[in-house]
Amino acid sequence: MDARPVGVFDSGAGGLTVLHECLVTMPHEDFVYLGDGERCPYGPRPAGEIRRFALEIASYLETAGVKLILAACNSATAAALPALQERLSVPVVGVLAPEARAAVQATRNRRIGLLATEATVCSGRYTSAIRALDAGAHVHEVACPGLVPLIEAGAGADPRLADAVRGYAAPLKAAGVDTVILGCTHYPLIRPVLERVFGRDVTLVFSAGETAREVAETLARKGIENDPDREGSCRFLTTGEPEELRALGERFLQLPLERVARVALTELARAAAA
Ligand code: DGL
Repeated sequence: MDARPVGVFDSGAGGLTVLHECLVTMPHEDFVYLGDGERCPYGPRPAGEIRRFALEIASYLETAGVKLILAACNSATAAALPALQERLSVPVVGVLAPEARAAVQATRNRRIGLLATEATVCSGRYTSAIRALDAGAHVHEVACPGLVPLIEAGAGADPRLADAVRGYAAPLKAAGVDTVILGCTHYPLIRPVLERVFGRDVTLVFSAGETAREVAETLARKGIENDPDREGSCRFLTTGEPEELRALGERFLQLPLERVARVALTELARAAAA
């Protein structure tokens, strides 16, 4: 038994979609969630910069005593997963691979669309993960720079959101894809808009449930689970405005976010330099 919490991080509120699945799968574990609100969005940034941010956050969480780190951000997973695994002594789990697998299983016409940030699209990681499973699959990738800022601003009912989604969906519809990977952890926060734009004939793939299972299996295999009979808790940290994460988090998780604390970027940098 291991009472240490699991650390989860994202550029902002998107990782809450993965945290939610973790809470469903592991209600007995404690979690510390860190959103890098001050430096969100990550999508337009070069891979090296995203890697530095991810290393800072993960080092901070490791110093704070977490037993496993979940990179609940596709951009950070694409840019930094191997570097995180090399640098840290606790296990690190990312997103991305489970979605590639689920998309290959779901598609019938082997035409798969990807909506993701510029950083994730530029990394080419989804195409290689899909091709490793089915070399004959066609992957159509679309970078969506407009979505994360609108989602972080809480723009659910803003007509600009539906317009932006329609614009990004158009090339995928034209390519005749039957499966679309939501390759950014923010996108399930606007799932109803995406479902209306793509309709019933397209399967939307977001595999946070499988990611949560991978976290649970890793804890079990390493013998570091918490007592299954207890009720876990969550602590929330942000480098941005605590009120902003609280508002988005409470709306999405339908959970009171009583403890949202601010972490200074200098503290993250110090942890990485130690
Ligand atoms: N939610 C993140 C991702 O999955 C980051 C998006 C961003 O900050 O641009 O890619």
